[in-house]
Amino acid sequence: MFITFEGIDFCGKSTQVELLKKYLEQNDHKIVIIREPGGTEISEKVRDILLDKKNNMMFIETEILLFAASRSQLVREKIRPFLNENYYVISDRFHDSTTAYQGYGRGLPVEIVNNIHNLSIGETIPDITFFIDIPVEEAERRKAAQGSRSLDRIEVSANNFYEKVRRGYLEIAARQKRFKVINGMMSIEEIHKQILNEINLLHKKELN
Ligand code: TMP
Repeated sequence: MFITFEGIDFCGKSTQVELLKKYLEQNDHKIVIIREPGGTEISEKVRDILLDKKNNMMFIETEILLFAASRSQLVREKIRPFLNENYYVISDRFHDSTTAYQGYGRGLPVEIVNNIHNLSIGETIPDITFFIDIPVEEAERRKAAQGSRSLDRIEVSANNFYEKVRRGYLEIAARQKRFKVINGMMSIEEIHKQILNEINLLHKKELN
């Protein structure tokens, strides 16, 4: 099963990836965790370029193609081979991040974004995607509270950019059945429980 987590920065998805990993490991499943951009030696190098604040001259077209380059490598080097071996592949972000951030956030046309997805991922679409939804003001509060960690090139973006990204995610959710919107204002435990419920439901459907 291919499971992805999505949301605006500081939505809490990485915590949920960790909790799901622990749960599946305890239940003796074969799992692999990846993050985007990154996840392979080549993709991690592309990640460094993408997130480096010094690269503030990066054009939107360069940005989307670098995300797609990182993902193309990851899909072929890791995701497909692990899925073929019946692993649970869990990814902290995937192609929906590009649709939300570069499409809705930066304003690149949806058709162009979809064409790029066709090349980079082809048929490798997640079985289920958890969109952990928080208001932008909450993300802002969490960002301020964590204080010490320095922000990357994308995290320094203004709130109105994040509003567009969030709206983008909600539009994708309205169209895609695999998208599960989770209220990110619930407690960590409640969110985890809801995620497990959804995965169990999907399993049951597949068995029928
Ligand atoms: P992370 O903070 O979740 O590791 O993600 C890195 C940043 O890159 C985050 O601000 C979201 C952004 N991003 C995009 O803009 N487009 C993408 O396709 C991906 C995967 C991430």
